[in-house]
Amino acid sequence: MQEIQVNLYSPDGEKMICWSYKGKNLREVIALSNRDPGGSCGGRGTCGKCKVRIQGDVSPLTATESEFLLPEELNQGIRLACFCTIQGPLEVYLDYAPDSNKKRIGKPKHHPFKAQFKTEIFFIDGLEKTSPVPLLKRISNALPGYTVSLSPENINELAKLDRAGRPALELKALIIDNQFINYVGRKKRPAYGLALDIGTTSLFAYLADLTNGEVIKAASTANMQRIYGSDVMSRISYCMEKEDGLEELHKLMINNINSMIADLMQDSSESHENIYQITVVGNPVMLHFLLGLNVNGFASAPYSGLFIDKMQLKASALGINTDQKANLIILPQIGGFAGADTIACLLNVSPQVRKFLLIDIGTNGEIVLADGKKIWAASAAAGPAFEGGKISSGMRAGPGAVDQVYMSDDGRIAFNTIGGELVKGICGSGIIDLVSVLYSGKYIDHFGIINEAADYNGSVHLDDVNGSLQLTIIDEQTAQSFIINQQDIREVQLAKSAIRTGIDTLLRLANLTAQDLDVIYLAGAFGNVLKADSCFNIGLLPRVSVAKIACIGNAAGEGALRALLSDKALTEADIWQQKISYVELANDSNFQAGFIDNLNFKNS
Ligand code: FES
Repeated sequence: MQEIQVNLYSPDGEKMICWSYKGKNLREVIALSNRDPGGSCGGRGTCGKCKVRIQGDVSPLTATESEFLLPEELNQGIRLACFCTIQGPLEVYLDYAPDSNKKRIGKPKHHPFKAQFKTEIFFIDGLEKTSPVPLLKRISNALPGYTVSLSPENINELAKLDRAGRPALELKALIIDNQFINYVGRKKRPAYGLALDIGTTSLFAYLADLTNGEVIKAASTANMQRIYGSDVMSRISYCMEKEDGLEELHKLMINNINSMIADLMQDSSESHENIYQITVVGNPVMLHFLLGLNVNGFASAPYSGLFIDKMQLKASALGINTDQKANLIILPQIGGFAGADTIACLLNVSPQVRKFLLIDIGTNGEIVLADGKKIWAASAAAGPAFEGGKISSGMRAGPGAVDQVYMSDDGRIAFNTIGGELVKGICGSGIIDLVSVLYSGKYIDHFGIINEAADYNGSVHLDDVNGSLQLTIIDEQTAQSFIINQQDIREVQLAKSAIRTGIDTLLRLANLTAQDLDVIYLAGAFGNVLKADSCFNIGLLPRVSVAKIACIGNAAGEGALRALLSDKALTEADIWQQKISYVELANDSNFQAGFIDNLNFKNS
């Protein structure tokens, strides 16, 4: 079959050439090139968000596609990528993607980790002219008790210094687990480790210096598997329906990780070959995709994967760009859909706190409850609404995302965007605030229905679009605006009810009330901007004293970092795993009734 050239242009004009075939779906081609095609419906043609500008030969416009596009957009050559198949050479401009793929995230504010790695200075005998002893033998003799595992490049580098007749040579060695893994040289050469949090919607990476525990950089990127669906179930179905589906999703994950590594190394003179250790956390399905393992066990009860304990293998065996010898350690998992990410969150919990609730708000909401003696964990299928998915103006937290929404005393709504930039969309914390404000202002009722009789003012505008109601939220000072519609509010209700019903179920099991708890830990990509009052108001959390709420940010990523830099944290991860009992929410007889009840808004 003849290959067709497709040129992709990112918003900053960077060109990428890729090759494809006639009939290939454009959205898939964009995603396989590790660019973000946008969209939140997994390519089902229902969100209208995978807009790209095209010059060249693609399949004709369909009636359904044209319903999503304005006449002026069509005139500019804008199309929805998931509707287009490639017919000939193409220029594709990605400047319409609502959400940037790559973004830097802040480094953790504190990292009280003690590095387990050390550099040691030692001397090897010079090469004698009369009875030469091979270089590696002399190194082993100089480092009794250590295993020498140097790469061929490293040995060749040392060989250049080792001339016959030269006296003893001073060397610096990087030692990990009693293994001499790298000759560091006279100049300081970095020894990096990577902590990865692979979520359903986003991936996070922290690059740390293994010799002193310093976090060098952090990065985040969208999980490109989302072209096959925004939740794990759609991706599992894809693998079951398509013969090479699992292989595709595995490759996407590895490409995603390698592209983050390239991003982290971008302005450094060093290379990925200086990465010697990786720790990984994520939900069980993502961890199976990482390893390319069959995910059929997650498709139906009893929802079980192929492994649950800590696993160690060579990162290079998976095609991850690191030093050849770098170990990749997957932290232990809990069971069902509760994975290593939840265990990693628990590494951030203070040992003094006995009764606590920990909620990791993501596409799956993981909930852990401790009563001082026992610990239970559950996973609630929240969907991606709190990460901006399935929301018409939704996006991941990044520049231009509405992250906080307020209501003033006179009932007017105002909002804040990340970085003070022009509005691009709304992210999770903003969505929770907005729904809370709309409920308090009576723009939506107890059932989440948009109230046509509300007291509308200049900051909220009501429209009827083809028989369905939507609200436009307007900043009266800057005239910027964004939209929320009835379906978006429904998605928030489904997400908050799944998590809240999970919380109620575990509290009932432990025979506790929320007031009995010492702390409620809130983890997720929200950072510290999530407002406890908004969470109470929409019923996401049971109402407790605000002082008991602790926002711990991306605790899964921080836990992966702790495990990277501390053997003690790795051991603690195993201990948490052994203590926790997994609760399958679907088996709880009260769950369904509780879920329906929690869909509504009430001041709980
Ligand atoms: Fe294309 Fe949703 S319409 S991804």
